[in-house]
Amino acid sequence: MKLRKVGIIGTGHVGSHVAFSLALQGEVDELYMMDIDEKKAKAQAMDVNDAVSYIPHKVIATAGPIEGCGDCDILVFSAGPLPNLYQDRLESLGETVEVLKDVIPRIKQSGFDGFIISISNPADVVATYLCKHLNWNPKHIISTGTALDSARLQKELAHIFNISNRSITAYCLGEHGGSAMVPWSHVCVQGKPLEQLQQEIPQRFPTLDNQQVLDDVKIGGYHVLAGKGSTEFGIASATTELIRAVFHDEKKVLPCSCYLDGQYGESGIFASTPAVIGKDGIEDILELQLTVEELTLFKASCAIIREHATKAETM
Ligand code: 2OP
Repeated sequence: MKLRKVGIIGTGHVGSHVAFSLALQGEVDELYMMDIDEKKAKAQAMDVNDAVSYIPHKVIATAGPIEGCGDCDILVFSAGPLPNLYQDRLESLGETVEVLKDVIPRIKQSGFDGFIISISNPADVVATYLCKHLNWNPKHIISTGTALDSARLQKELAHIFNISNRSITAYCLGEHGGSAMVPWSHVCVQGKPLEQLQQEIPQRFPTLDNQQVLDDVKIGGYHVLAGKGSTEFGIASATTELIRAVFHDEKKVLPCSCYLDGQYGESGIFASTPAVIGKDGIEDILELQLTVEELTLFKASCAIIREHATKAETM
């Protein structure tokens, strides 16, 4: 019987929380931890193994070099510089590209041929770079992209409307970063458009300052960073959700960063859009019918990703 094995490249705050979230939620059988700091990767593996008596089922965590990740089903890429409170995510591109230049040949050498979930920032640019330089099937690379921003948006709206986060369909799309946009015309509560609810039940669904809500979503991550130096629970949960969708072939629609091939008139870059995730990775991209204004914002966000993807090639 085939066990589910996930390799994690970069076992700092984000990678270690992804590992523990997968273990805690029973979504993995084997974890393979990789880090430039080998002692740390080993320690993270030992720490997960210490939890086995008290988690849903047995997990075996080991650590080793990237060259040894060939038998993993999924690789999580979470290596790179620590987020900086005073920096836009795009400003970490140079440092992350340095890491990618080291890691990519070693992934090739390992013989790995599974799925990649890329987290490191700038998320969309990094996924574009990985896909190109690994010459990977673009359906087999998913970047967490705005999965996290969308969860933050759902949290804000859930708070304002006093409605469960899970009853709200609301996405941030485009870049995981400053230019992320919200297609407000597609926000709904259990299938009912928000705009309609705002007319029918204004006491629960007041008219919003949409820009203010989006600004709060964007600043949300920085508040976490300011308070504790890293963001980890939200991103680990979003990553686990994507991995669960692949392992269980859920065909779940999730907002995440996918390779665009003509959708929204965009090609050759990763950007976030709702997509169907299952055992074949990104099985379909659901291209939303955006209003003219929304499409302009989405395309402006894609232009920023493209500009930095081009810049990454010169680094
Ligand atoms: C986040 O949004 C820093 O990209 C990371 O939490």
